[in-house]
Amino acid sequence: VTYHVAGKPSRQSKFAISAFIETNINSGTDGGLYAEIIRNRAFQDNKNSTLNVNNELGQGTLLHWTGTSKSTNLSLSKANSLSPALPQSAIVHGDKGQTCGIANAGYEGISVTTEPHKLSFYARSPTGRSSTVPVEFGLYSSDYAKTFGKQSMTLELTGEWQQFQTTLTPSQASTDNNNVFAIKTTGACQDGFQVNLVSLMPPTWEGTVARQDLAQALADIKPAFVRLPGGNDLEGNHLAAFFNWTNAVGDLKSRPGRNPTWTTSWNTEGLGLMELMDLTERWGSEAILGVYAGYSLLPNLMGEAIPKSKLGPYIQSALNELHFLLDTSGRWADLRRSYGREQPYKFTNIEIGNEDWLGPAVNTYGAYRWGAFRDAIAKEFPQLNLIASTLLGGVKGAKAVDDHIYATPDKMIEFAETLDATPRNVTRWELEFAVINSGLTNDTDIYGGPGRLKHPTLVGALAEAAFLAAAERNGDVYYGAAYAPIFHNEGKNLTQWTPDLLSFNPGQMVKSTSYWIQYGWGNNRIAQIHDAKLSKPTNTSKIHHSFGSNAQGNLVAKLVNVNGSAKQIKVQVGDGKKVSTVGAKSWQVKGSDAQQANTLNNPESVTPQVYASGLPEGASLGADGVLTMTLPAYSATIVTVPLV
Ligand code: AHR
Repeated sequence: VTYHVAGKPSRQSKFAISAFIETNINSGTDGGLYAEIIRNRAFQDNKNSTLNVNNELGQGTLLHWTGTSKSTNLSLSKANSLSPALPQSAIVHGDKGQTCGIANAGYEGISVTTEPHKLSFYARSPTGRSSTVPVEFGLYSSDYAKTFGKQSMTLELTGEWQQFQTTLTPSQASTDNNNVFAIKTTGACQDGFQVNLVSLMPPTWEGTVARQDLAQALADIKPAFVRLPGGNDLEGNHLAAFFNWTNAVGDLKSRPGRNPTWTTSWNTEGLGLMELMDLTERWGSEAILGVYAGYSLLPNLMGEAIPKSKLGPYIQSALNELHFLLDTSGRWADLRRSYGREQPYKFTNIEIGNEDWLGPAVNTYGAYRWGAFRDAIAKEFPQLNLIASTLLGGVKGAKAVDDHIYATPDKMIEFAETLDATPRNVTRWELEFAVINSGLTNDTDIYGGPGRLKHPTLVGALAEAAFLAAAERNGDVYYGAAYAPIFHNEGKNLTQWTPDLLSFNPGQMVKSTSYWIQYGWGNNRIAQIHDAKLSKPTNTSKIHHSFGSNAQGNLVAKLVNVNGSAKQIKVQVGDGKKVSTVGAKSWQVKGSDAQQANTLNNPESVTPQVYASGLPEGASLGADGVLTMTLPAYSATIVTVPLV
């Protein structure tokens, strides 16, 4: 195949790799991106949080906490609350003269490092009488045979809650995750102590609250946009559990949290609205804020739409959220300042709702919800771009839409091949996409059937690359795409959705095949589209392409070979322009088996090859200025070459 590539661009490309942070799917934020080590830190978790239909506070338990000794008597207290938002706490008692204490095993384990950890907890005297309680706290193996780091402190307790803060720096690192954090006392067990909001934070990423390896991995793909905070978790399973931003800002003591849509742990909202915004900013990205549009998912997947007559307060809440984030002065700006953020955040895209084509949501979105939110937001914030979550159901006046695609490799490729015909009147975002089924089985259920992938595969990632190439060469109308979900805690009871971009346990993380494709695209963005004509149609060779020029004016060629055999292609540039290999650089992902996957046990099955200067192996530039490349079987290649 010869690609005849125009030497001059035809259109500007707005297309950018984006990211989608959905709070708490796969314990990806609490238990993942949010660096907090302690699980159920404020005694809010319930065994089956979805039963807590009304999102009532005070339904929590002592789940994930244990006594440190046989003589410990641990109880949950609803009396003497730390705050209205955190009504429950634990009381630790024990036999006279014995040791008693409380221990937490984190999100299915704790990986101990020798870095300084910030410890904070609140304590009071359970009796209300003043008492002196000497405590030891530290990180230990779960059988207490090993101590990685410990400290002592004397708590002068009264009936009032007091915050205790210190730094714990273990002297030894652990070799596994079978460890606990514990606070114990010897000699004061009769009086005991009452404790709440126990937080242990390892060093975090660049002054944020994020786990370092996960935040850095995301930063490395250079997402231009970050859609937050969900997904289904924006909507909540019940009206009472939607993402109510007012409960996700301010002091941790005043964040009640809520039932998450996906996980079984309470959603702490510790990685709240401002923390997500700060992280997005630190990634060098711009937020796409998802606002709740009056629809929640359950019961029985029949959905609950707020009637038109009762939508007012929810619209007002979305407006308040925007004022809080964007205003330079006034009540909401003052509130934001009081939480430590002087400058307004900068973002221009808002998505109204999530997947409002799904189930009965479609009946009310186009009928009244979209229009009501759109009109109110457009009136107060005319500078914002409003993205609809669907064009179905009679949606009127939408200038942008966020479609989502989860598919088999073949279906993803089929979809990619339709993109050149995208109507140009509505801007497209694909803020959730992934190959999630192998396509090798006959099951038609891409979500739950036997073909459902555990981790992204090589062929899946290449099918995604084919989609990204197509979206990018249509970057005049396709503005962004985000793989979903990103974060996946592999803990036995912490997974709800596979495959995912970054899987991890308390101490390790793996970058999937799909991650490397995001990385390649994110680090080689184009600014202008160069049209290409092929000597043969693409679909006969299964090579997928995008040609563009970057901000420096270099030609960027992205070529995806989803075949199991190598393919030779030629690139000929027109308009009197030629390719120069001086200053060229290349990047390639390839593998030998379509089903290859990176896993925690085999993290480097597929990794990119970087040619810091020059063309990839098997490529050459002829005297006629034609670039010849042999694209390896199952490969994605990105070549950046100066145009002269
Ligand atoms: O990314 C996982 C889920 O897929 C999201 O919560 C939802 O928007 C979609 O259906």
